[in-house]
Amino acid sequence: MSEDATVPVLIVGAGPAGLAAALTLRKNGIPVRVIEKEPRARVGQRGAGIMPRSQELFKILGVIDDICVKAIGLVPMRMYKLPEGIEPITTFALDPTVAPTPSAPYSNVIMLGQNHSEEILRDHLKHLGCEVELGTTLYSIQSDGDHVQAHVLKKAGDDEIVETIKCRWLIGTDGARGAVRKQLGLAFDGETFGVTHHLVVGDLHIKGLDKKHWHYWGDLDTILVMLRATEDEDVYFLFIGGQVDHAKIVAERAELERMLKVGTGRTDLEIGAVRFISEYKPHVRMAETFRKGRVFVAGDAAHIHTPFGGQGLNSSVQDAVNLGWKLSLIEKGVATPSLLDSYTEERLPVITHMLRMSTKLFNDAAHVKADGTGGETAWHRGGEIHMLGVNCRWSSIIVDERTPKEATPVDPYGVTRFCTDAVRAGERAPDAPGLVVLGAAADSTNGAQKTSLFNIFASSYHTVLIFGDGTSKAGRILSVLQAYPAELLRMVLVHTERLTSSIPGGGYLSVLDRDGHAHEGYQVQKDEFIVVIVRPDGVIGGIVRDTEGAKQYFARVFNALADQPLPTL
Ligand SMILES: Cc1cc2nc3c(=O)[nH]c(=O)nc-3n(C[C@H](O)[C@H](O)[C@H](O)COP(=O)(O)OP(=O)(O)OC[C@H]3O[C@@H](n4cnc5c(N)ncnc54)[C@H](O)[C@@H]3O)c2cc1C
Ligand SMILES: *[C@@H]1O[C@H](CO)[C@@H](O)[C@H](O)[C@H]1NC(C)=O
Ligand SMILES: *[C@@H]1O[C@H](CO)[C@@H](O)[C@H](O)[C@H]1NC(C)=O
Repeated sequence: MSEDATVPVLIVGAGPAGLAAALTLRKNGIPVRVIEKEPRARVGQRGAGIMPRSQELFKILGVIDDICVKAIGLVPMRMYKLPEGIEPITTFALDPTVAPTPSAPYSNVIMLGQNHSEEILRDHLKHLGCEVELGTTLYSIQSDGDHVQAHVLKKAGDDEIVETIKCRWLIGTDGARGAVRKQLGLAFDGETFGVTHHLVVGDLHIKGLDKKHWHYWGDLDTILVMLRATEDEDVYFLFIGGQVDHAKIVAERAELERMLKVGTGRTDLEIGAVRFISEYKPHVRMAETFRKGRVFVAGDAAHIHTPFGGQGLNSSVQDAVNLGWKLSLIEKGVATPSLLDSYTEERLPVITHMLRMSTKLFNDAAHVKADGTGGETAWHRGGEIHMLGVNCRWSSIIVDERTPKEATPVDPYGVTRFCTDAVRAGERAPDAPGLVVLGAAADSTNGAQKTSLFNIFASSYHTVLIFGDGTSKAGRILSVLQAYPAELLRMVLVHTERLTSSIPGGGYLSVLDRDGHAHEGYQVQKDEFIVVIVRPDGVIGGIVRDTEGAKQYFARVFNALADQPLPTL
């Protein structure tokens, strides 16, 4: 690429955050370049747990099926009696299995090594014509009014090539120690935990342990060893903490073997190749803002926390998709850069809450004793950790005509939500299966074609769910919304009864809510007219009662079109 070619978006760092941002943008047809300083793909489990909310986002990005083929479930934790380390003291579920429901089909944590998830994301990106540029390190950036210049160093064999990449937007997903946040001079306040919280993490081949448990010996006052089976044959994910010489364990295999013996008391374990090993010092830190002009930070570059709440990858992917669709609308010319203020506005309170929560989980886990005391409570996961309650009800770009914002507490993880509460704008959009496709779209297939809302949602458009009351209101709102660029909206008429006459004009999908899941999930009465606007990140952007409400919502997100006349009806 020549020096003055401008790429719309440059992504620095190809971890889960960078790859998810790139995929969101490519699904929207926006050209991106992704640079990564490592010369080859990293190996290792690292953050392996994928939360239900992340699975939903992976569904929207079209990668969930590939993830599910490889992923495994979360196994129960088993603590052993020392010094022999063989007899179990207690065995408990970390995250009791939750049955899927029509509105939440992804209801359990799944585990997949971060290197596998990253490989899947990279493959999908490749199909969309984007290849990660490995061995390419960003070292400085310079903002010049309407663009950013990124100075990068490329390794090609023994040669180093300097390149200046000109872009309109730059996303720093370069991890906790990344260059982008430092270049912006953003404060990264918080704390680094002391030595008691310091861990060795790694992946190694072991023979002699069952694959059905997350094996656990000792405690942080003495030596803590944890070994979890992974999707890779005989590869176990390792944690060692407590009174050990972390650096020595990482540097010397003999020390690793010795500590595994001392820590577990087991002499029968066969330790094979070490695939990955590293020190891990938990920090809790957050950038003061996630945007400065044309440059953003997302994922670990914006916030880090202990792995014990395990919200790292999970939060990073949410950041990436939130930012990705907004940047796409700007590049498509329908939104102005002011839409981007909502990225920090929507994500910062969520991250603040998440940091507090994972610190608490970490401190609880640190107090578990080798005899098992406190284990089950401290390691209990589930509920809010699944992140299905994560929301942005306070956001200035959402519109809710059903539940006024003033009546809505700021509760970023939705912890005080009761099942009787109304579904509100700013929350995740529930799924609804059992929808029967009506009209022309159905006639082309033999018999009834069934679909679900999660099969309709996508990262490249807003989905407008129009629940009809049998009057002409649905037709009116359709004709108003047809004034917006067709590729930006997917309109869905949700009926309670099979229609005999249909509304004129194409460009929409008619479905019969045969089993009532859509009405139930969105709390809409039969024959009640209401419109729910679902954003490209699967969050409800608007719940409105008429065309004015819908126009109000789109005036905020398609704000570059606001001055253009739309039909008033
Ligand atoms: C050693 C280690 C162990 C971990 N263990 C756990 C764990 O046990 N549990 C858990 O929940 N989480 C763990 N994590 C955290 C988890 O991996 C992160 O939360 C998650 O990867 C965040 O994704 P990200 O995309 O924001 O950042 P990262 O995955 O850190 O990706 C950043 C990428 O940017 C690249 N990069 C950095 N600087 C530059 C530059 N200047 N130019 C170009 N590229 C650059 C890096 O090489 C890297 O590939 C661990 C992280 C590390 C590093
Ligand atoms: C992922 O890392 C594991 C080590 O944990 C390794 O055995 C495996 O081959 C790697 N797989 C990929 C696809 O990178
Ligand atoms: C996502 O959440 C799960 C469940 O707590 C956790 O095990 C996993 O490590 C998390 N992923 C990351 C990268 O933090």
